[in-house]
Amino acid sequence: MADRFKQLLKGNKDWVENVKQKNPELFSNMAKGQAPPFLWIGCADSRVPAEDITNSLPGSIFVQRNIANMVVPTDYNLLSVVHYAIKALQVRHIIICGHYGCGGIQAAMSNESYGLLDNWLMHIKDVYRLHEAELNAIRDESARSKRLVEINVQEQVNNLAKMAFIQKVWQEDEFPYIHGWVFNIESGALINLEVTIHSASHLDTIYRYYNK
Ligand code: CO
Repeated sequence: MADRFKQLLKGNKDWVENVKQKNPELFSNMAKGQAPPFLWIGCADSRVPAEDITNSLPGSIFVQRNIANMVVPTDYNLLSVVHYAIKALQVRHIIICGHYGCGGIQAAMSNESYGLLDNWLMHIKDVYRLHEAELNAIRDESARSKRLVEINVQEQVNNLAKMAFIQKVWQEDEFPYIHGWVFNIESGALINLEVTIHSASHLDTIYRYYNK
């Protein structure tokens, strides 16, 4: 059991051999730098690896993951990733991806305390309260949890659009597009929630910045 981590190093050796056979140019290309067209904001859950589920190679997705794929405006880690992705890498598409069966969503829906984590989950409880009427009307707990996963993604798309520096980019460019997706862990399928936005026009007035 104690040696289990060695499996990772062994796995790396196997992976290198595999890549060299299938895609011999990959490492020399990677050494030149990165120009990923996508930024992915996903859940830290081990079952939702951005590259694997999209069949993508290293170098194609800039990734930020946290519990329940949240966009919290005081999270300087996320802000730095988003800023760098837009300003330096000039990614054209940002994907916020939630997933059914999300432990963070389920924890936030419950009345249990999870210690330090409660502070993070508070942001999801706020999303629940905002959509309380719709969610409380869903009797089945699993269906209600799935709907909160979807609503939460939509609210995180909005949270990104609320950021002044993104609105400033939109004043001169149609990019970046912000997409909301959900990963169905039972089938492996990605679902496009069709909540894509690329302007601040849909936001409530209170969140909009008009100065150039
Ligand atoms: Co999750």
